Amino acid sequence: MVFLYKTAKVYATFLKLLGYERGIRSFIDRLVLDCPKGSRILDIGCGSGIVGLRLMERLPGSTLLATDLEKNFLKETLSNARERNIDERRITVGLSDVSDPEQVTLLNGSSLVLQDHSFDIVAVGGVLGYSRDQVATMKALMRLIKPGGYLVDLEMNEQPIGKIISTWYNCRPVPSSIMIRTIENEGNNVTVIPFGVRDFPANLTRVGIVARMGLRKVRNVFGKSPIDMQASQN
Ligand SMILES: C[S@@+](CC[C@H](N)C(=O)[O-])C[C@H]1O[C@@H](n2cnc3c(N)ncnc32)[C@H](O)[C@@H]1O
Repeated sequence: MVFLYKTAKVYATFLKLLGYERGIRSFIDRLVLDCPKGSRILDIGCGSGIVGLRLMERLPGSTLLATDLEKNFLKETLSNARERNIDERRITVGLSDVSDPEQVTLLNGSSLVLQDHSFDIVAVGGVLGYSRDQVATMKALMRLIKPGGYLVDLEMNEQPIGKIISTWYNCRPVPSSIMIRTIENEGNNVTVIPFGVRDFPANLTRVGIVARMGLRKVRNVFGKSPIDMQASQN
């Protein structure tokens, strides 16, 4: 296991002190997401929950299933939610490997098999690089999303600092070109949204890959996708 993952509390505190968590939150706040009230969010490899919890705060009435390979991170996500006054009844946590995202073991030991097309948003941040087969995993993630729902991947970027940190974390990030091809081949719309200086220091290591399921036709008719338009307005 990566050194910083050994103690979830140390990892979470480190991200807060560096301003990294603030940077991730600032990026998420600029995403224009057309989601229904009561949306279901899945955050895989949730770590301290910074991606899933911020999406929840943005979407009233939403619920979150946060999963990770490490139990201590699930507890940290719940602790982070309490700090942010998010009602814990809106959150479920469970153990899961990103390579088999539909298989979840809840903390009480019971198993959950996630159904296809059952989430409005599937979020992954800096975790696809730990999957056994990145393309197969991406396809499995997309199957879990409802038509019109989103894949929000805050992926490790291909810049020098991103590459160094990925190596340090023993993570093999997915090149954006492979992500785009895999998402589009499945008939979905995708936009690469770079992190900006206002998201510092997260801009040094992350890139946003945001895909909307089943909207390829819109790109053909208007030339630009809804996500492209939203990204350029921000
Ligand atoms: C770099 S952290 C990212 C945390 C959070 N998603 C974020 O964006 O800041 C990677 C997380 O992935 C988890 N992880 C590592 N390998 C995993 C796997 N095979 N399946 C699921 N989670 C994994 C780690 O325990 C850690 O919480």
